[in-house]
Amino acid sequence: MTQTWNPQAYCTNGAFVHGLAGGVLEWLAAQPGERILDLGCGDGQLTRRIAATGAVVTGVDASPQMVAAARSRGIVAEEAAAESLPHGDASFDAVFSNAALHWIRDQDAMMAEVRRVLKPGGRFVAEMGGHGNIAAIRVALMAVLARHGHAGCEDGVNYFPTPDAYARRLVNHGFQVERIALIPRPTPLAESGMEGWLRTFRSGVLDSLPEALRDTVVAETVDLLAPALRDEEGNWTADYARLRFIARA
Ligand code: BEZ
Repeated sequence: MTQTWNPQAYCTNGAFVHGLAGGVLEWLAAQPGERILDLGCGDGQLTRRIAATGAVVTGVDASPQMVAAARSRGIVAEEAAAESLPHGDASFDAVFSNAALHWIRDQDAMMAEVRRVLKPGGRFVAEMGGHGNIAAIRVALMAVLARHGHAGCEDGVNYFPTPDAYARRLVNHGFQVERIALIPRPTPLAESGMEGWLRTFRSGVLDSLPEALRDTVVAETVDLLAPALRDEEGNWTADYARLRFIARA
């Protein structure tokens, strides 16, 4: 399964990603002149907010479409995998990441790279999906996929660890964990609701299905989720849970 990103759809259906990032930006507390890497910078909207503090920010993202979108916002961004960063040792005062780490396949390779590019004592400040994130959405999608003979397509798409498990992993890579928390964050979805969310954030799963089945899977998943995540006025709220942390190299 390869997740692909469409910057236009992301802008419409994922505006909450940068809109709700105030908490992790506060934990980052970027200072003027600091060199900061935004890991998984996406379309660069949050990168630009960090740069507005006076920090010198560079973005990196595995998606060429997202790197192009970030550059169009004036961000210096490079296309690279988090497991193999194109930056020199001890290049940054901080590595920041929002809503990206749960997509990374090899967490250990990523952590080794983050530690390598951080200056000694530099900070890794991030927010990602934590244990229980989008649990209802995943269960509904898995049930519909199984009904159509595609059980397993949703397996391993994302990694949503507990604070204990992620803290242990960070410590194993030589980080000192200063703060880590699992924060439930019910997330209102925009006009395109759950259908827009599935088409944007599960495009990899949908693309792995026969084309004739995709609309059916989306419609049946939306129907299954409606009693749990759609209110009486028709508004959708996704069951997000964030894992946020500060760790020192
Ligand atoms: C998240 O930010 O938690 C997330 C977004 C899309 C898919 C999976 C997780």
